[in-house]
Amino acid sequence: MLYDDIGKQPVLEQIVAHFYQLVYADSVLCPLFPADRTRVERAQVIFLTQLTGGPRHYDTHDSRMNLAMIHRLLPIERHHAFRWIELMEIAIYETLSNQVVAERLLERLRIGAMNVLRICEAHREP
Ligand code: HEM
Repeated sequence: MLYDDIGKQPVLEQIVAHFYQLVYADSVLCPLFPADRTRVERAQVIFLTQLTGGPRHYDTHDSRMNLAMIHRLLPIERHHAFRWIELMEIAIYETLSNQVVAERLLERLRIGAMNVLRICEAHREP
């Protein structure tokens, strides 16, 4: 299971902490994010736990755990999506020593980010 290969919750927490450190210092992404960084970080750890096959903390029907529900109203454009992926690549490669595991996780997140972009673009169409 990807969750175990990554190193379970403690390593996911490290990745997420590193990622949001970069996000909140980034001029492209920071303006999109709320002041309450702790809430976003906690939700992201839970989301990634489920995405990688770890224990479920929430019912999957909980709208907070649905990428479309979370992002559809946000003004996310291509440059935001590419920056999000870029910072996630840095956070993951600097945390995980196993490149194969890192790529497996990144592959899913790139797909997720492209889905988020598609959802936001579709929502903005007249
Ligand atoms: C296209 C790239 C992405 C951008 C620009 C982006 C941006 C954002 C922003 C601005 C928020 C804060 C929303 C708020 O005001 O509460 C957020 C929350 C969140 N995002 Fe993304 N996101 C992206 C992709 C993803 C992907 C791929 C995932 C999952 C793998 C994800 C998971 C989450 C989670 C779990 C939250 C927290 C929701 C909560 O507070 O309950 N995002 N994202």
